[in-house]
Amino acid sequence: MTAKIVTFGISKGGCSKSTSSGITSYLLSKEEKVLAIDMDGQGNLTSFLTGEYDICNVFEEKTVLEAILNGDARPYIIKIKENLDLLPANDFLATLPRRMFEKGLKLDALQKALKPVMEDYDWIIIDTPPALSEQTVMPLSTHSEAGSYAVVMFDGSMFAYYAIPKFLEIVAGARERYNPTLNVAGILFSLIDSRAKENEIMEESIEEDYPDLKFSTIIRRKASTRRLAISGFDGNPELKTALEHYIPFVKELKERVR
Ligand SMILES: Nc1ncnc2c1ncn2[C@@H]1O[C@H](COP(=O)(O)OP(=O)(O)OP(=O)(O)O)[C@@H](O)[C@H]1O
Ligand SMILES: [Mg+2]
Repeated sequence: MTAKIVTFGISKGGCSKSTSSGITSYLLSKEEKVLAIDMDGQGNLTSFLTGEYDICNVFEEKTVLEAILNGDARPYIIKIKENLDLLPANDFLATLPRRMFEKGLKLDALQKALKPVMEDYDWIIIDTPPALSEQTVMPLSTHSEAGSYAVVMFDGSMFAYYAIPKFLEIVAGARERYNPTLNVAGILFSLIDSRAKENEIMEESIEEDYPDLKFSTIIRRKASTRRLAISGFDGNPELKTALEHYIPFVKELKERVR
């Protein structure tokens, strides 16, 4: 087996990258082996999957930063549950560009760190920060024989609408320069309020601008989904409703990247 890589991104903040990458990792791990990677110093994916919010101390020198700088992810991967592992992040990821420069590392540094584990997983799911920085470009530059994909997160806002072409440009640049295996899996509408009138206009615009890229599944805004960051997955009585829209999304994702 070689892992398929799926990177969730958009430079607009708060479009549900961490929530969606976390839930996708969780759902995929029910049947296959998943490594979730947190590439955001906010560490939201790390907190989401571990329930740990004191990430600065708990994961001190045990993160994706050290994996990249030392060229090997293995010592820093932690087990979340059966079939689900995590390469965590914390605030020190902010030092990545400087530390990479000091070590003379290039944008293939994450690729090198992941090489020893590429055969251990079916999926590598990566959360990125709301920025078109190294932390976003490196995952997109990481190739896999099984395919490397970007999921573009879109919250229906005008700000995110204008962030889409910029993100797609970064994807095209990464594909051209570093990663010929990279493709866009699709644009995922999330945090969509069922009652907002402008959503239909946004849906039409996206379909017109990017034919066939929009996932047909739409993730609605739900309090139970938001509360997953507090209650977690295990023994959560509202888990079924919290994951309701993500189950068809993951099915669609699997079909698109087959
Ligand atoms: N489907 C949903 N329904 C309700 N709330 C949601 C949903 N998805 C995400 N949220 C909430 O919206 C907020 C933003 O989500 P999240 O942190 O996942 O976005 P992000 O794109 O990772 O943000 P950032 O750009 O800061 O990394 C969080 O408070 C999260 O709990
Ligand atoms: Mg996030």
